[in-house]
Amino acid sequence: MPLTVIDHPLVQHKLALLRDERTGSKDFRELVTEVTMLMAFEAMRDLELEDVQIQTPVASMTAKTLSGKKLALVAILRAGLIMVDGILRLVPAAKVGHIGTYRDPETKNPVRYYAKLPSDISDRRVFVLDPMLATGGSAIDAIQEMKNAGASSIKLLNIIAAPEGVARVAAAHPDVEIIVAALDSHLNEHAYIVPGLGDAGDRIYGTK
Ligand code: PRP
Ligand code: URA
Repeated sequence: MPLTVIDHPLVQHKLALLRDERTGSKDFRELVTEVTMLMAFEAMRDLELEDVQIQTPVASMTAKTLSGKKLALVAILRAGLIMVDGILRLVPAAKVGHIGTYRDPETKNPVRYYAKLPSDISDRRVFVLDPMLATGGSAIDAIQEMKNAGASSIKLLNIIAAPEGVARVAAAHPDVEIIVAALDSHLNEHAYIVPGLGDAGDRIYGTK
């Protein structure tokens, strides 16, 4: 299964704060941003580099800069939006796409209401951002939309995933690497992740 769990101590510490029901929206948003930036280090480990000649105040040297395919970040709305900010601080030239879906409360299936992707997404490495991977329905639908638009290099970043969702995404899109900060126990009868952190969108935006 193409799954990477980033269990760095800093990530685990921030995850404990994020999961805690006493954490309010302001801190929750900041923690999501911080965990996303830490995850990005691992998710972007294989970015290509090229040599450049530079002059430091002391000597000339051969340094490295990013080369190869440019990047695209795609947020699955609403909750994925907050993950974009952290990664844009690291790679400000990345283009950003948005896919709007919500889960139908009865069927738990994703309902798409919006999609806007970079027109050159086929030439870019794509990082799909959503804090939660539960049944996997939203991610599978969003990834299919990106593939239909020509994307071929796709990684999915979720802060917390359920085994059920990982298995479904891996079956539907085996070429997509899934990177998570935590793989939780299971889904409950409402398709919420256990222990999870509750409804990510509601906790980020203070809605119910
Ligand atoms: C949440 C979450 C994912 C989805 C995961 O969004 O941010 O997009 O659920 O569930 P799944 O893997 O079963 O599809 P939600 O539908 O609550 O919408 P929101 O972000 O607008 O609150
Ligand atoms: N969406 C969330 O925000 N949380 C879950 O646990 C499952 C879906």
